Amino acid sequence: MKGYLLLISNVIILIYEVHGCPEKCLCHPPSKTVDCKNRGLVDIPSHLPSETQILLLQNNHIWRINQSAFTGAPWLKILELSNNSITSLASGAFQGLRYLQVLNLTKNLIHYVENKTFSSLPQLKELDLSSNRILSLPETLGKNTGNITLLSVKHNKLQKMERVLLESLPNLKVVLFKDNPWQCNCNVFGLKLWLESFLYRGGISDGIICSTPENRKGKDLLKVPYEMYGVCPATAAHVTLASFHHHTSEHRNSLKHAHHNEHGDSSHSDCEPKPKSRPVNLRHAIATVVITGVVCGIVCLMMLAAAVYGCAYAAITAKYHKEHLAPAIEQGSPEEKEPFDSSLA
Ligand SMILES: *[C@@H]1O[C@H](CO)[C@@H](O)[C@H](O)[C@H]1NC(C)=O
Ligand SMILES: *[C@@H]1O[C@H](CO)[C@@H](O)[C@H](O)[C@H]1NC(C)=O
Ligand SMILES: *[C@@H]1O[C@H](CO)[C@@H](O)[C@H](O)[C@H]1NC(C)=O
Ligand SMILES: *[C@@H]1O[C@H](CO)[C@@H](O)[C@H](O)[C@H]1NC(C)=O
Ligand SMILES: *[C@@H]1O[C@H](CO)[C@@H](O)[C@H](O)[C@H]1NC(C)=O
Repeated sequence: MKGYLLLISNVIILIYEVHGCPEKCLCHPPSKTVDCKNRGLVDIPSHLPSETQILLLQNNHIWRINQSAFTGAPWLKILELSNNSITSLASGAFQGLRYLQVLNLTKNLIHYVENKTFSSLPQLKELDLSSNRILSLPETLGKNTGNITLLSVKHNKLQKMERVLLESLPNLKVVLFKDNPWQCNCNVFGLKLWLESFLYRGGISDGIICSTPENRKGKDLLKVPYEMYGVCPATAAHVTLASFHHHTSEHRNSLKHAHHNEHGDSSHSDCEPKPKSRPVNLRHAIATVVITGVVCGIVCLMMLAAAVYGCAYAAITAKYHKEHLAPAIEQGSPEEKEPFDSSLA
C-alpha cells in the first residue's frame, strides 16, 4: 500500500516536472539542459525537471544553497554556479548528486566549507572553488570524492592546506593553488613534500608562491630549500641532528626533545618556533657537532698512529725474518704444501 502510494506520487511528480521548466529558465530537453544564466535569481529554482543533467546558474545573485536543494534533479552531471553571491554551503547542499561530475563555484563569496559539503559526490571529477574567500578546507574534503581529477582553489585566502586532504585525492591530475596567502613555515612542509611527489608523478600545478614570512615572500615553495625550515621542529635538519645526538650519550635530553617534536608534529598546533628555546637548541647542536668532531678526530689520529706503528713494526719484523730466518722458511714451505696438494688429489 505504501509502495503503491509512493509510486503514484512519483508518477504525478514526474508528469509535473517533465512538462515544467522553472520560471525564468530555458529548458532544452534533448540535451537535458536547464539554462538559468543571467536571470537575477537569488535562490536555486525549485521544480527543476527531474531528468536535468546540466544546470547553468552562473551570473545570478544566488546567495545560499539550502540543504537538499538539488534532490529534485538527481541526475545532475554538470552544475555551474559561478559568479553568484554564495557565502556558505550547507553540509547537505549537494546531497544526493551521485552522478555529479563538474561543480563550478568560482567567483562567489564562500568563506567556509563544512566538513561534509562534498562528501556525497562519488563521481565528482572537477571542483572549481577559485575566486572565493576560503580560509581553510576540511581535511575530509576527499572523503567519498576520491575521483576528483581537477581541483582549483586559486585566488582564495588559504594559508595552508593539509597534506592528508591532497593524499585523499589519488586521481588528482591538475591542482591550482595560485593567489593565496600561503604561509611558508613548518606548516607548509607536508604540502611541499606532497607537491614534489605530485609533480614527479606527472601532475600539473601552477605552484605555491609564499606570502609569509616576510623573508620568503614571493618565493616559490619548491625552491625554498629544506634547510630553511630548520627553525621549526621535526624538519630534515633536526632529524639529521637527532642522528648526531644518537652518538653522544651526553645529549640524551636533546635527543628526546627532538624525537618528541617529531611525533608532536602531526598536530601542527605549536609549530611556530619558540624564539627563546631556539638559540639554546642551536648551541646544543653546535656543541654536539663540535664534540663529535673532536672525538672523531682523536679516534682518527689514534687509528692513524696505530696504523703507522703497525706498518713500521711489520716492515721491521719482515726485514728481520728475511735476514735471519730466510733459510728456514724456504725449507719449511714445501713441507707445508704437501698435505694440501695430496688432499686435493
Ligand atoms: C557576473 O554576473 C553579473 C550579473 O549578476 C554580470 O553583470 C557580470 O557580467 C558577470 N560577470 C562575468 C565575469 O561574467
Ligand atoms: C531555504 O531555506 C529557507 C529557510 O531555511 C526557506 O525560507 C527557503 O524557502 C528555502 N529555499 C529554497 C529554495 O528551498
Ligand atoms: C568555471 O567557470 C568559469 C567561468 O564560467 C570558467 O572560466 C572555468 O573554466 C570553469 N571551471 C571549470 C573547472 O570548468
Ligand atoms: C571537521 O573535522 C575536523 C577533523 O577533520 C574536526 O576537528 C572538526 O570538529 C569538524 N567540524 C565539524 C563542524 O564537524
Ligand atoms: C569513482 O567512480 C567510480 C565509477 O566511475 C566509482 O565506482 C567509485 O566508487 C568512485 N571512487 C570513489 C573513491 O568514490
